[in-house]
Amino acid sequence: MRVYVLVGAPGAGKGTQAALLGKRLGVPHVASGDLFRDNIKRETALGKKVKSYIDRGALVPDDMTVHLISDRLSQKDATEGAILDGFPRTRPQAQALDKMLDRLDGRVAGALYIDVDREELIRRLSGRWLCSVSSDHVYHDTARPPKKPGKCDVDGAALDQRDDDKPETIRARLELQLPPMYEVLDYYTDRGVLSAVRGDQHIAEVTEELMHAIAQPAHASDGRTPAETPGAERFARSGRTSDGCHPGGRREATGSRVAGRGPAKVGVRRGGRR
Ligand code: AP5
Repeated sequence: MRVYVLVGAPGAGKGTQAALLGKRLGVPHVASGDLFRDNIKRETALGKKVKSYIDRGALVPDDMTVHLISDRLSQKDATEGAILDGFPRTRPQAQALDKMLDRLDGRVAGALYIDVDREELIRRLSGRWLCSVSSDHVYHDTARPPKKPGKCDVDGAALDQRDDDKPETIRARLELQLPPMYEVLDYYTDRGVLSAVRGDQHIAEVTEELMHAIAQPAHASDGRTPAETPGAERFARSGRTSDGCHPGGRREATGSRVAGRGPAKVGVRRGGRR
């Protein structure tokens, strides 16, 4: 069982890309946020517990989240693998995922970080529309408009906006959820499985870079893992990502860019648009 983890700030394009990658690789797209929203819609006991966290832009506690994903990955359609979107989001979740996959005879084959700057994240979340039938059908007012306004191109269903895409909740999600995300990036850097791609390109270009990262797992050119390589990025400490939401508020242009096509290996620092 080979699992790929998509890591990125709210609005980075995880859901959009996970749906496309899932189709390309023939494995399910497993999104913790979608599973929570489905529980809320069905008014399950879990849905009632998690609603208040989601409404205020906070993370749902780890134990509830880990159970949910563990159940989902144990289902038959995930035997070969899955694309995880939105999980893990904290270091304990990442550790729990490794334990879960040990039991399921699987592993995290790659962690793929989609790097997008804060202004763009806000623009994306504010203009997002989702199909009311399948959350895999994601649209945007300008970047990916539906052919007919308000209707899904795939199944003609009405398009909705998410409650947590209100401006104040977007702000809370960015402030509360990015610090633990940096720890997840460090966790996968240390394991030598993290690749980073520029998320500020067209959707299809991001997909190609992600496919490239999957085909060529993260490694240093001399065979060492990124964690062993001098200059390997430490996200939690440095906050050197483009989202600019490091706890200390530091936004640092690092200058170097990914050379040529394909994802950045960890340790390659890139400056996002400011
Ligand atoms: P979740 O549903 O996971 O939300 P999120 O991480 O905030 O991410 P989003 O779904 O908002 O964004 P995305 O990165 O998928 O972007 P998308 O592809 O839609 O989680 C919701 C809540 O559940 C959390 O806040 C938390 O409370 C809870 N939760 C979930 N998982 C949890 C966990 N593991 N632990 C604890 N709590 C958890 O794209 C956004 C928009 O941009 C779209 O309109 C799209 O069309 C557009 N777009 C995409 N790519 C591009 C591009 N390249 N160029 C231009 N536009 C683009």
